[in-house]
Amino acid sequence: MARGMPRHIGIIMDGNGRWARKRGLPRNEGHRAAERAIHDTVEACGQLGIGYLSLYAFSTENWSRPRAEVDFILGRLLSGFIRRNIDDLDRQDVRLRAAGRTEDLPGRSLAVLVKAMERTAGNTGLQLILALNYGGRAELVDAVRSVAEDVREGLVSADRIDDDLIRSRLYLPDVPDPDLVIRTSGEMRLSNFLLWQSAYSELSFPEVLWPDFGRSDLEAAIADYRERDRRFGGLDSESDS
Ligand code: FPP
Repeated sequence: MARGMPRHIGIIMDGNGRWARKRGLPRNEGHRAAERAIHDTVEACGQLGIGYLSLYAFSTENWSRPRAEVDFILGRLLSGFIRRNIDDLDRQDVRLRAAGRTEDLPGRSLAVLVKAMERTAGNTGLQLILALNYGGRAELVDAVRSVAEDVREGLVSADRIDDDLIRSRLYLPDVPDPDLVIRTSGEMRLSNFLLWQSAYSELSFPEVLWPDFGRSDLEAAIADYRERDRRFGGLDSESDS
């Protein structure tokens, strides 16, 4: 039986470096070219009625890249992306949010990000979530620390810790789990993206490099998702009990 549209799509935007290398360009040109794919994907998701789009823009592990690349992504590219796109996002009723240890982002980029989030906070269309200085393990560490603090203060007893309590301490507890996680460039790993939330996500690994990702690739991944049978650990709907 065909499924409905995914409510939440997560994307690991991989392949920028290879896209640049194929053209004899520096890696940062690949990251710069990523902006068009982000723009078109956001627009398409809004038009398709997707509720949430999470984009893995910078992981807790990405700090180990060359300094010039880190500075470019978290500095010029992030703040420039927001500045260039914020009017358009606002017009499309997109609400911009962020997930991750954002307090460690460069101050100027963080200020631009916070301002854009505040400006779009009341928008009710697509929620665009940028995973920035995000790691699934770091998120769980932060959640466990928060719960441990409550246990220490006697607000929670250890035997009351359950799924719901852990979930309530994730970065964006109100956001539903991703139904579909897409990783471009043919790599088949989650690389620390939404580890808790992707427990039952369908996964899609198109070969296309992120800067070349377009509306037709998104629609193909969604069409494939809709053909799949999601059982969440139970029996499928047509099985005898
Ligand atoms: C993966 O490609 C890409 C990243 C680790 C960074 C992702 C960043 C962007 C798409 C741009 C950031 C956008 C904003 C809004 C800040 P890669 O460099 O690992 O490519 P490779 O595997 O081919 O080397």
